Amino acid sequence: MIATVDVVVIGAGAAGLMCAATAGYRGRSVRVIDHANMPGKKILMSGGGRCNFTNLNTTPQHFLSANPAFCISALKRYTAHDFFELVERHGVDWCEKAPGQLFCTDSSRPILDLLLTECEWAGVDIHLKTAVQRISRRGDGFELETSGGRVQCASVVIASGGLSIPTLGASGFGYRIAEQFGLPVLPTRAGLVPFTLQPDLKTRLAPLSGISCPVSVRCGDQRFSEPMLITHRGLSGPAMLQISSYWQPGDTLHVDLLPQQTASPWRPLRERRPSSTVEQHLNDLLPRRLAQTLSEWHGWQQPLQSFSNAALDELDAQLRDWQVKPGGTEGYRTAEVTLGGVDTRAISSRTFAANEVPGLFFIGEVLDMTGQLGGHNFQWAWSSGYCAGQVV
Ligand code: FDA
Repeated sequence: MIATVDVVVIGAGAAGLMCAATAGYRGRSVRVIDHANMPGKKILMSGGGRCNFTNLNTTPQHFLSANPAFCISALKRYTAHDFFELVERHGVDWCEKAPGQLFCTDSSRPILDLLLTECEWAGVDIHLKTAVQRISRRGDGFELETSGGRVQCASVVIASGGLSIPTLGASGFGYRIAEQFGLPVLPTRAGLVPFTLQPDLKTRLAPLSGISCPVSVRCGDQRFSEPMLITHRGLSGPAMLQISSYWQPGDTLHVDLLPQQTASPWRPLRERRPSSTVEQHLNDLLPRRLAQTLSEWHGWQQPLQSFSNAALDELDAQLRDWQVKPGGTEGYRTAEVTLGGVDTRAISSRTFAANEVPGLFFIGEVLDMTGQLGGHNFQWAWSSGYCAGQVV
């Protein structure tokens, strides 16, 4: 038997569920198909288990894409405040961790429940553990062969996300469908991902695993001032995750370990306490074990009076421009997002339909539109899902 619905959404993640509910409320019959055994796995994992569900300060400048203007329209038509209003309507407890950055208070679960409730109210049918084997054109619409039987529909929405974290259901499905229908797909790479280090630096930093401190990190002309975390594999924490999206293999990271010190403190300190050591003062500015290790590496245990002006300036420069050449990144295994993807120049920024394939839509992370850390990626899922849901 062949089932017939108006819309099939492939992917029961953030974008797919938002799109399905929106279309369902318009009276469209909607079937969501996902190969995973439960919907919204990434939502549950997100934000350290507390889902950073939006950012009230989201702007197009928070996104990376070969076609940066593509996100403007959708972000305007379904804003962070629109999603926040939905969160309030469902009575979800939330908190603002940094200005504009909204998280669930205890767990991500209420955000997934909100979406599933909206889908239920909108009459959406969700089919899990269902693989899509083939999508083909049939008249003006499409026919899908799935492990749960054949389905015919007028619109297909690809909301299957990117390649990040395959154990949460990520697959290259969306890119393959784009290519099947002749749409360009831009090269992909892991974003918002921890760095791995060259063997020498990795061995030296490994004993400091778990230490976190505020830094300002620069790569090219992009800079982020946030905490850095040393891990047993390399460097992580918000500063490193943010800059990873702008890093290319071979690039050097420039890390300012004293971002709060506007002027060099060393010459005045040498005047006031000539017999004190750099290490003693660094202990006040950095986590103690990091201060100790840096002092050992650079031989900074000597009294300050033994340093010339030039040596103090050199010391200050080393702390403000610690140059790290990462070995690579941890890749899709731990990346929060996938950069690149379906080229948005082949997609309508108003409807999210493929320009040359009427009825075929792409939303969310499968598109070449990647947000910075801070709730922007979910906002993109909500905005793109809502806008497509208005027209499918
Ligand atoms: P998403 O990946 O959510 O959903 C895709 C769905 O498609 C999945 O359910 C998958 O199973 C399904 N699928 C894939 N291939 C399929 C196939 N072949 N057949 C059928 N179904 C298929 N962002 C943010 O703004 N704030 C945050 O706090 C976080 N935190 C965070 C933590 C971690 C650990 C990760 C990995 C990511 C984040 N993110 C985030 C990013 C955010 O999770 C991401 O941008 C959105 O989930 C993207 O939503 P989509 O719906 O596009 O894809």
